[in-house]
Amino acid sequence: MSNMGSYEEKYKDFDWKISEAELSFGKNDPINIGYFCSDRICEQGLGKKLALIWEGFTGEVKKYTYDDIRFHSNAFAQFFREIGLKPQDRICLFMDRIPELYISFLGILKMGGIAQPLFSAFGEEALFTRLDDAKTKAILTTKKHVGKVRRIRETLPELTKIIVVDADDFKLQEREFAFSMEKAPRVEKFDVFQAERETPSVLHYTSGTTGKPKGALHVHSSIIAQYLTTKWVLDLKPDDIYWCTADPGWVTGTSYGIIGPWSNGVTQVVLDSGFSADKWYAFAEKYKVTVWYSAPTAIRLLMKEGIEAVKRHDLSSLRYLLSVGEPLNAEAVVWSQKAFGKPFHDTYWQTETGSIVITNFLGMEIRPGSMGKAFPGIVATVVDPKNFEPITTPGSVGLIALKPGWPSMFRAYWNNKEIYDNKFKNGWYICGDRSSIDKDGYFWFVGRDDDVINTAGHLVGPFEIESALIEHKAVAEAAAVGKPDPINMEVVKAFVALKKGFEPSDDLELDIMNFIRKKLSPLAMPQEIAFVQSLPKTRSGKIMRRMLRAQEWGEPIGDTSTLEND
Ligand code: WTA
Repeated sequence: MSNMGSYEEKYKDFDWKISEAELSFGKNDPINIGYFCSDRICEQGLGKKLALIWEGFTGEVKKYTYDDIRFHSNAFAQFFREIGLKPQDRICLFMDRIPELYISFLGILKMGGIAQPLFSAFGEEALFTRLDDAKTKAILTTKKHVGKVRRIRETLPELTKIIVVDADDFKLQEREFAFSMEKAPRVEKFDVFQAERETPSVLHYTSGTTGKPKGALHVHSSIIAQYLTTKWVLDLKPDDIYWCTADPGWVTGTSYGIIGPWSNGVTQVVLDSGFSADKWYAFAEKYKVTVWYSAPTAIRLLMKEGIEAVKRHDLSSLRYLLSVGEPLNAEAVVWSQKAFGKPFHDTYWQTETGSIVITNFLGMEIRPGSMGKAFPGIVATVVDPKNFEPITTPGSVGLIALKPGWPSMFRAYWNNKEIYDNKFKNGWYICGDRSSIDKDGYFWFVGRDDDVINTAGHLVGPFEIESALIEHKAVAEAAAVGKPDPINMEVVKAFVALKKGFEPSDDLELDIMNFIRKKLSPLAMPQEIAFVQSLPKTRSGKIMRRMLRAQEWGEPIGDTSTLEND
């Protein structure tokens, strides 16, 4: 085959042990992600190297060396121990992208805790659901977000420690602690918790079609895959300045916004600010970013501003661009070639996979619109949804399936064995996405195989939105589906049947939208509400979301014979 180029040849004897050897994994040093991302880098003589350059929305800049993140994370870890937190306690991170978020993540792992990052824009109901499910013991937050925690803590008896990292002279309430990273004494030595390979490390919540969000549980040996994929796929080298635009409330922001770059001893930059093309380009220019990992929605927003916006900046430092989270349309790849002189490389993975599993490797021929090929060490295929047998005809659509066993694969859904077990069929882990594979092994994404809405690269579960909608005083029943959007790919649209005595109106629509934004998050907020008399249901009473979705996408509605009132 023409493209059986260097990549397949080079990696045909691939073994994850390559990564273990480079990390000296489990030799004498502790197995602990916190250690690998700070102490180990300092031991290699890189203590003075910058680990993090952070810029806030006001333009304030903070810089931290590897030595700084080592002793600051030690200080966090020691503080957690002092206030009585124990290994394997779930400790939630609920902060904007401030330095404390990145550094306390390592501190939690160093004391043996399980880090549970949650998106700081979550409203109190979204927060409650996830803290309640994980029986979370402690939460790290800031003055800005502590109000949401205060409003739900009475219903969370296990949540005994609320740690405010910017408390200053803030009046603390019951169960609240103040911890200032900058003011805490330097902690040179901390006896890092000796994890085993299979010791749980990170718990990331993700949404499904039905039921509540599920906590995908990862373990300390996940670093074997996160380290190597960072090195090989993101191609990070010692002199790179790396920018991952993802928020650590989501998996990209931890696997490739903390663990990957720091276990590789690379300098990373973080911009804690909203999106604007000029701001982003100015940031990349100012810090001479070389490797940039972003998402299709951001690229589409940049496209909207045109190439002129690019030309106003010197972006010659950029050498490698990557994308994740949603389909990267071919036009975006072609545009980036024109705008930056290089294409965006698509990568595919999930909260559950913990690391990149399908990708366009550096040096590989890029086929715009394709996600690329399986990472060495990952056996990926598409299977027939009827019998879960691999489909061998090139171009046929099936379910993306991975052979279990790579190091960063999730080990459980927290307290939900049934749903976890259900993800495995015929010896394959079923990702829940549809794709075809061409004759050369390139994957072409088709769509999700469930009703989860992917808006701007963030997954939101329809069930969570519908459950919140029916808590509104005017709503009798509701369905939430994704509708097409030129920038965000999909946005939430809600279909709502009102209770007796309520009439559709613009005010009511706005009220319901805000209700969801506050309860769940701006991402989950419907961008449109259609008021209907009743919702299409199956004979057994299940709302036919798929039919509503098909209407939005102009797709064939399919078999409606089981509809209640057809
Ligand atoms: C989707 C994010 C198309 C997919 C790392 C997957 C993608 C879900 C791509 C995981 C891609 C991710 N092309 N779709 N390159 N990458 N997805 O768990 O549906 O937040 O299952 O992890 O995003 O989203 P999650």
